[in-house]
Amino acid sequence: MKSFHLEGGIPLRGQVRISGSKNTTLPMIAASLLTDEPVILKNVPNLEDVRTMVDILKHLGVSVSFRDGMMAISPKNGLGNHLPYESVRKMRASFNVLGPLVMRHGKAHVPLPGGCAIGPRPVDMHLEGMRALGIETTIDYGVVCAERVSKPDSMTFHLRIPSVGTTEQLLSIAVLMEGSEIVLNNVALEPEVQELALFLNRMGARIEGIGTSALRIKGVKRLHGTEYEIIPDRIETGTYLLAALVSQGDVELVGYHPTHNVSLVRKLREMGADVRESENRIRARYLRRLNGTDFHAEVYPGLPTDLQPQFTVLAAVSEGVSVITDTVFSDRFLHVDELKRLGANCSVRNHAIIVHGVDQLKGAPVKAKDLRGAAALVLAGINAKDRTVVQNIDYIFRGYEEIIPKLRGIGAQCEMVEEELAS
Ligand code: UD1
Repeated sequence: MKSFHLEGGIPLRGQVRISGSKNTTLPMIAASLLTDEPVILKNVPNLEDVRTMVDILKHLGVSVSFRDGMMAISPKNGLGNHLPYESVRKMRASFNVLGPLVMRHGKAHVPLPGGCAIGPRPVDMHLEGMRALGIETTIDYGVVCAERVSKPDSMTFHLRIPSVGTTEQLLSIAVLMEGSEIVLNNVALEPEVQELALFLNRMGARIEGIGTSALRIKGVKRLHGTEYEIIPDRIETGTYLLAALVSQGDVELVGYHPTHNVSLVRKLREMGADVRESENRIRARYLRRLNGTDFHAEVYPGLPTDLQPQFTVLAAVSEGVSVITDTVFSDRFLHVDELKRLGANCSVRNHAIIVHGVDQLKGAPVKAKDLRGAAALVLAGINAKDRTVVQNIDYIFRGYEEIIPKLRGIGAQCEMVEEELAS
């Protein structure tokens, strides 16, 4: 078990290069199973979750090479259609391989997924959508057994919630339903979903309506290999912007996508931060104490739930009262009690975090419980007076590439320490 040791209270200054997007990479790796030709992905972040997905592909007999941000996926050894629980336990996105495997084999077995404990994360909509697309599913001892039993001609499936994973799963199925015309309504609009649709079209799929809430898919017989460059990670971007501000510093991010963080940038400016964008860069500068504000995490283009814990830290050291709610994961509050240990004045009431700003947090030992919560505790430690030790920090390697060198590069005093956790 690793711990993150930080000496806080130092304004961060300098430049950080943003890595490729984790949540774009994972579904693309899964979707590469839809072809038997090689797929090349560029700007792939070297993250724990990406390595987990590579292990899953290897388990299925696919050959994968991954070096210096370049991933070559080549199913030349044939493709399996069973996965053991061990390989999907760690990460919910692993469930995305189910659709491609069913479309290649007619039948597949994938255990129900694991992932961060940020609230209930069922897969009922995935299964509902599959049924509508002619795929029967049964759950046997925690394993989803899916079998293609019929082919819809033309049909519309309406997603109850614009779920990212469900949209990606159903898209990856519909593209290979040759001769069918399928409309997916109320789909997720997140950039990562749009990128998957563009990637599939590059492989020969026929998806129309990308960027709107209705996708029209004309199924094709086969997809071919392609090359694709992964977009910058908007959650990593947001995390470093928030790190700059909680440290009262001045940080420029390189490799910035101008349209993916619009709601966050607007929110930070509303609080009084100096945020400037130019082409592929963004700079956040702390000029004076920020005003607290309400933060309502919702689906894209709203403020992302994956930045809600990190934003709570900024609110905790801003002036006045902030109210934070999350409509995507309504109980994503695991970070709150740990932030209190660092001197934050915050509490959960009626599915909202009520934050009363304090001048500065105080270092303490705390424990990470999920990926973005871990990032929030690191940000809190960056602000806090004296030493903070974030135990159980391993979660952070799921989503932040090279976090220690990147933070040290802008002046943070931090190190990773291997230690035994007292139970
Ligand atoms: C993805 C992201 C995750 C992000 C989330 C919301 C990846 C790998 N992960 O997760 O980082 O926090 O989007 O932006 O891209 N739901 C159901 N039934 C289902 C599926 C989802 O009820 O079958 C609910 C979930 O419980 C949740 C909401 O729908 O409340 C949205 O979840 P979803 O968009 O599916 O998130 P993920 O794809 O799991």
